[in-house]
Amino acid sequence: RFFADDPPLFCGKHVLVTAGPTREKLDPVRYFSNYSSGKMGYAIAEAAARFGASVTLVSGPTALAAPDGVEIVPVESAAEMYEAVMARFAETDIVIKAAAVADYRPKYVAAEKIKKQPGDYVVEMERTIDILKTLGEQKTRQILVGFAAETDNLEQYALKKLEEKRLDLVIANNVTEEGAGFAGDTNIVTIFRRDGATRPLPLMTKREAAEEILKEIHAYTEGIR
Ligand code: CTP
Ligand code: CA
Repeated sequence: RFFADDPPLFCGKHVLVTAGPTREKLDPVRYFSNYSSGKMGYAIAEAAARFGASVTLVSGPTALAAPDGVEIVPVESAAEMYEAVMARFAETDIVIKAAAVADYRPKYVAAEKIKKQPGDYVVEMERTIDILKTLGEQKTRQILVGFAAETDNLEQYALKKLEEKRLDLVIANNVTEEGAGFAGDTNIVTIFRRDGATRPLPLMTKREAAEEILKEIHAYTEGIR
């Protein structure tokens, strides 16, 4: 499992990664979700294990296999992801929240399949809990790493999330850029650190990006700029 070029940066560390979309139920046969594939989060979990961490991957529904040496906790909704993350937070050293958590869920979940009627149909939605913001409020020694998937004003929105969620690092990507975003095997990310250091990365595979992100987290914890 370990290769000579995998630096043992996270030996003895508990890393918790979230990945994938969440599904918010409307009735027994329907849900609201998003286009997240889970690939970025799975690549981070896999690389963290290779770098020596003890890794837990809390994952929404994806088509991906569990990476080698990673404990996987499958969840569906934002509420389930919240429970799974909070239950493990105290023993975690580093949280990396790559999941695309739904911001809204249907306010009422029908017990039976909703039958079609003539005319339009309106679904009332309510906000889900912001998992990462809650972690920011409750953190003691933990390092918090968030993602910011944006279509515009990347730096401004990323820094706002860094501040408002009390993050240590935020990994920002423009999901509309060619070669970046949800579905593919590559990404173009910029890493913003709480200490003001900024590192834009060129187009690379999600596996390579995962390694760069983990090296940057390690450098941040060591105070290396
Ligand atoms: N996040 C979370 N819980 C939520 C929503 C988001 O933990 N209910 C986390 C994501 O996992 C990600 C970060 O917050 O690491 C930023 O998610 P994003 O959707 O980019 O930002 P939001 O704060 O939801 O703001 P908006 O969608 O309005 O841009
Ligand atoms: Ca959101």
